[in-house]
Amino acid sequence: MALTGETTQLKRLDELIDKQQAIFLARQPRSGELGASARRSLAGGATSSWQIAEPRAVWMSHGKGSRVFDADGNQYVDLHGGYGVNAVGHAHPKIVEAVSSRVARGTHFAQPTEESIEVAEELARRFGLPLWRFCNSGTEATMDAVHLMRAATGRDLIVKIEGCYHGHHDSVQVSVLNGWDEIGPELRPASVASSSGIPQALVDLTLIVPFNDLDAVRLRFDEHPDRIAGVIVEPIMMNAGIVPPDSGYLEGLRELTRRHGAVLAFDEVKTGVTVAPGGATELMGVTPDLVCLAKAMGGGLPCGAIGGTEDVMGTIVRGEYEQVGTFNGNPLTMAAARAALVEVLQDEAYRHFARLREGMVSGCTAVTSRYDLSAYTVAFGAKGCVTFSSRRVRNYRDFLSVDDRYGYCHWLYQHNGGVFLPPWGKAEQWMLSVQHSEEDAQLFVDNFATFAEEIRG
Ligand SMILES: Cc1ncc(COP(=O)(O)O)c(C=O)c1O
Repeated sequence: MALTGETTQLKRLDELIDKQQAIFLARQPRSGELGASARRSLAGGATSSWQIAEPRAVWMSHGKGSRVFDADGNQYVDLHGGYGVNAVGHAHPKIVEAVSSRVARGTHFAQPTEESIEVAEELARRFGLPLWRFCNSGTEATMDAVHLMRAATGRDLIVKIEGCYHGHHDSVQVSVLNGWDEIGPELRPASVASSSGIPQALVDLTLIVPFNDLDAVRLRFDEHPDRIAGVIVEPIMMNAGIVPPDSGYLEGLRELTRRHGAVLAFDEVKTGVTVAPGGATELMGVTPDLVCLAKAMGGGLPCGAIGGTEDVMGTIVRGEYEQVGTFNGNPLTMAAARAALVEVLQDEAYRHFARLREGMVSGCTAVTSRYDLSAYTVAFGAKGCVTFSSRRVRNYRDFLSVDDRYGYCHWLYQHNGGVFLPPWGKAEQWMLSVQHSEEDAQLFVDNFATFAEEIRG
């Protein structure tokens, strides 16, 4: 595209953002009022900092099937999925039944209940890892993974991928969404705290490498012989749109970690049970030493799990690593997780995701070429996204180069067009559920086409 054409398009993009933001704000006065009153007692006016997004947080009323309803009564096809949780959709009868029957029999004992065995066995079958423990969030799962790496090896350093988000504990809140001015050279990126409150002493224990770059990992192992406990990685990076691993990348990590006596942990908090029954571990055919799960495995309840080899989980078995938590294996969560995994997310669910996904990818790809947009669509299982770039994003730095305004403007079009997506436009994905229909999926494609047409003018 000629520079003048590009400048015109960006000017148009800014105008469309202003217009769509005005529509957004006018549709949700009640969210505005609730936000204002919340600021008196909730820090920042919401229950998590990531619920506050431009133009303003959307307050929710309820969900049913594939739909959510905001506090103003607007209805949306829910492709936000509660940040990738709701693979079962809202109020699925099997989940309602499992949770209702458990509630009536007591919801917390801090002692194991029978469902936890069934959930662990199902996860062991899906991920090919024998031993499991439960926790309450993705953050706790990756925190356990980092502790287990260190416990199993007696080493302190860990390797983390630049741009990957693994939750908000100290060891991994490093080099997540930092800007160009902070991130340092490409082969040896700087370790940068991604929030205040993270001690520099801990930041220094987290070595950063770019995704899809085995040489950078090799370099780190060579520079720190016998000091690296392990590598934590999202096998498909999902905090930068969707970035698939290059062919041979995960196999290379597997081989390098083995050669250096380090632990390989896959953070499958987003990919686990959504991209395939056994997550990216199954889809990509590489089995790590540890898998971290949360989100969709719990059928909509707060959840987390960590699974691993006899070797690494042996540190728990032998009492060398204390994996603990008052709510671990909570009966309500276990009942919902059992129903989600054993009764809902079975083979037909994954065939359903595939049908809808294929329609969305081919529909969006057709729109992209019809309007000659610099964009592509990538999807796995229940998840997918449009990335506004003419070249494929392979790592965080490629992602940083993508103009945020396209993703944001597209997100506004989807929202005002009745499709609820996670905020932050370019970073997140759509999430399908077993209760979504072809019409639901088509609405996303239609909104994308409207956006593309208006961008082109
Ligand atoms: C890949 C990944 N790991 C870990 C987490 C943290 O999970 P939670 O928010 O449940 O603590 C997230 C959250 O979005 C995530 O995307």
